[in-house]
Parts: sequence; C-alpha cells; structure tokens
Amino acid sequence: MEAVLVREEAPVRASDERHAKLEVRLKSITALADDINAFEFVSANGALLPAFTAGSHIDVYLAGGVIRQYSLCNSSLERHRYVVAVLRDERGRGGSVAMHDTLRAGQKLQISQPRNHFALSSAAGLHVFIAGGIGITPVMAMIDEVRKRGQAFHLYYCARTAQRAAFLDELKPLIESGQASLHFDNGDPRNGLDLVSTLSGYSSGTHLYYCGPGPLMDAIEAASAHWPAATRHCERFSAGAAANPTRSSNTDSGSEKDAPFDVELRRSQKTLTVQPGESIVDVLRCNGVDVDTSCCEGYCGTCMTRYLAGEPIHRDTVLDDEDREEFVMICCARAKSATLVLDI
Ligand code: FES
Repeated sequence: MEAVLVREEAPVRASDERHAKLEVRLKSITALADDINAFEFVSANGALLPAFTAGSHIDVYLAGGVIRQYSLCNSSLERHRYVVAVLRDERGRGGSVAMHDTLRAGQKLQISQPRNHFALSSAAGLHVFIAGGIGITPVMAMIDEVRKRGQAFHLYYCARTAQRAAFLDELKPLIESGQASLHFDNGDPRNGLDLVSTLSGYSSGTHLYYCGPGPLMDAIEAASAHWPAATRHCERFSAGAAANPTRSSNTDSGSEKDAPFDVELRRSQKTLTVQPGESIVDVLRCNGVDVDTSCCEGYCGTCMTRYLAGEPIHRDTVLDDEDREEFVMICCARAKSATLVLDI
C-alpha cells in the first residue's frame, strides 16, 4: 500500500503530482548534537512512502502556512520512513525554531513528496563531498548510496566544534578508513579546511558536492572556479553571492531592466500581466491562484512550475539546464518572450 496523496482542490492552484502532499506522523525526535535534532516521519496510514534518491529534500508544512525544506539523511533504500536533521537557528526565518519548539512525537502533519535538485552524478569516478555544519544532512544519504555502489569518495566535514557536528558516530568508521576527515575551526574559518589547497587540482571524472552555510558555499565556489561547471553540484540554504555555477548557461543576472510580460495559465484559461517590480507569484495570488512558496529567492524549489511555451529568464539557483527546458521558478523568474505559458 502506498501513502495517501492529498491534492488541493479550491481555490485555483498550481497543482500537479509534484505539489501533492503526504500525510505523515512524526514518529520520533532524537538529539544528534548541540541544537540539532533528527525528526523521523512515517506514513500516517502505515503504508510505504514514495521512493527517493540520495540528495532529495522534502517540504514540511508547519503551522501558520510556513513551508520549510529539509534534506533527507536516511538511506534512500528505506521506504518506511523519512529522516531529516534540523539545526535550531534563532537567527533564521523561524522554521527551524518551530520544528524544535512546537513539534512533538506522535503529531500528524503534511509534507511534500521528495524532490531532488542535488543528485549524485552517474558519470563520476570519484565523489568529493564538502559538508558545512547541518549541510551534512543530504551528504549522509549520498554517502550511503555511493558506498552501496562501491564507488570512491571522500568527505570533508567542516563544523565549528565536535559538539555541533551531527552523525559523528556513524562517520567514525569512514574517518578511520581515511574516507572522511573532520575540520573544526572553533569559529575562525582560518583554522578550518584549506579550500584553495583542497580544490586546487581537478582530475577528470571527479565530481564535487557541497552544502553548508552561505560564506562556506561562496568560498567553495571561488576555490573550485576552475573545475568544469558540470562537475560541481551544490544545495544552498540561502541565496548565494553568485548564481550556482552548475546552472550557468541560462542564468540571468537580473541586472537588465525588467520589462512587463504576460503569463498565460493554460489550464485555468487566464492571461495576466506581470509588471516590472512584480513577481509571477505576486500576480497569481492577486488573481486568486494559490501557489506554495517558501524562500521567494529562487533557492528552495517550492514554487517550481512547468511551462509550456515562451522563453523564461531564470533567476533561481536550483534548476539545471535540462530542468530549465521544462520548469521555471515563478517566485523570481521573468520572461524574455511577450508571453510565458504556464501549466496551471
Ligand atoms: S519559493 Fe523558493 S524557489 Fe521559489
């Protein structure tokens, strides 16, 4: 038996399989490190959950319409549960504090189906992972999958201190075998991993994956700038200083003067105009079309929408070039063409 998918009905909604929600029960909450808890979700009706691939994340629907994305850290072979690890961040946007302070084991809530914008390469001969702090969460699932494939890898795990680093017990065998190394900087990045030296030599067949706080991500991007773009893969928690290098070929900087354009909602049979200074999401909501968003800055993937015609100006850091043939992030994208036709 598969888990129940809940589809939204009215009002008009950007609704398809990707937006279908899952009813789950929070089975357990486990402390992993200082301010880091693991949350284990199982299907509310005891059924198997949809399969996922390593690097996937889910949206968690919290009280007050808050939607947050968390990477799955358990093995992608598991269908009986999803596990996320969350750092309680007082300076964040409130989602992690709500997860820590309001959720209780046994509670039912809704999540999205898993989505993956941080997938492992099937072409890599060597996988290099750099995880910063809570950025270890997707990497745990990715390492599990790489190990099952029998492929070569190395993990550089950066954190402030051991007390703030999750999964150290699970990683111990990898550290002992030389497949993982720990880099604690005690709050001073100069004491941490030497990124320039670590990433100075690119060898063919090596793929780099990185996830962590914004400054670390920016530093890794700079230090790996000479690597082929297709070999670098990242997942951000916040908008970056620069567009994701792996999305380079069709990323617009946003520096041009915005022009108005029309969005045609093919299924709703509506055409609306997006003026300079407005987003597609703004215009949809003003016209009674309900759309899920979270970051509104083009890095979380919640608002991903299929388009059917027209030429988007992509301003997200999530979609790769292949995805951009089909999808657009409507919180930040505009259009080069006079009309952008959306599958809504
Ligand atoms: S709401 Fe996050 S990418 Fe659009």
